[in-house]
Amino acid sequence: MDLQIKGKKAIMAGGSAGMGRATAERLAEAGVELVITARRRERLENAAKEISAKYKVNVTPIVADSSKPEDRAKLLESCPDPDILAITIKPPAPNGDFLKVTPEMWRESIDSALIGPIELMRQYIPHMKESGWGRIVNIATFSAKNPMVWRLMSGPARSALINYTASVSREIAKHGVNINNLLPGMFATEGANEIMADYADAFGLEHNTEAVGAHFRANNPIPAGFVGNADDLAPMAAFLCSPLARFIVGQNIVIDGGQHASLF
Ligand SMILES: NC(=O)c1ccc[n+]([C@@H]2O[C@H](COP(=O)([O-])OP(=O)(O)OC[C@H]3O[C@@H](n4cnc5c(N)ncnc54)[C@H](OP(=O)(O)O)[C@@H]3O)[C@@H](O)[C@H]2O)c1
Repeated sequence: MDLQIKGKKAIMAGGSAGMGRATAERLAEAGVELVITARRRERLENAAKEISAKYKVNVTPIVADSSKPEDRAKLLESCPDPDILAITIKPPAPNGDFLKVTPEMWRESIDSALIGPIELMRQYIPHMKESGWGRIVNIATFSAKNPMVWRLMSGPARSALINYTASVSREIAKHGVNINNLLPGMFATEGANEIMADYADAFGLEHNTEAVGAHFRANNPIPAGFVGNADDLAPMAAFLCSPLARFIVGQNIVIDGGQHASLF
């Protein structure tokens, strides 16, 4: 399928690993010029080189933490006029006992998982409106819809994010600017490995990959029978970034192998 985005400019905020990187690859494959960001320089620069070499498009790496105002300003200076903005972030680690979650932990979660994405969107929507076309995709989490007591540092802030985008997307759709969200379930990514280590700590398990995996699967069964990989999400992300998705506005698409049972 021709996504009709060849020659467009995209920012993939959080593009050095996992679902962000896979999305960057699908956009690059479609001929999009990219800026990718992340906090860790080495992995980011390697990703930019590899994607650029593989798909023969420009990929500019910018070290930036989306939760920091000064880093968002730096990104705006380097790339003021993207057609496409895709965003993902890593929220704080899984919490253990919910009674031990402090106001400081909530602030960190809100800064990274809510305010960072909102401020990135707010920074770029005026340009997209003016140009008469734009696509924004947030790669958030299915725990925005499917509360999990060990993921309080991720789900609640993203529930607020999808509430925000449900409103804002309906304000700006008439300008040809669409916002949609992808809500992933369990995916085998670099980030998931880091989360599993924190999950082991939260549940008092030893850091034994097999034992942690078994505990996790027993408590989080997936009807499809397997954990996703980043390419189970990236094609949908790239599609939502295309003109083909012009009638899809303010939606939250769960990609989780059926784990979250709901009608809508
Ligand atoms: N994997 C899962 O099973 C799973 C389950 C449910 C929800 N999710 C959600 O899906 C999204 C993607 O997860 P993933 O597993 O693909 O993550 P990942 O492998 O850790 O990749 C995240 C990417 O975003 C970058 N990043 C993280 N925080 C950032 C920030 N504040 N500013 C800029 N870049 C940032 C990371 O690089 P740096 O670390 O260098 O910044 C990396 O490039 C996350 O929001 C996660 O919460 C994942």
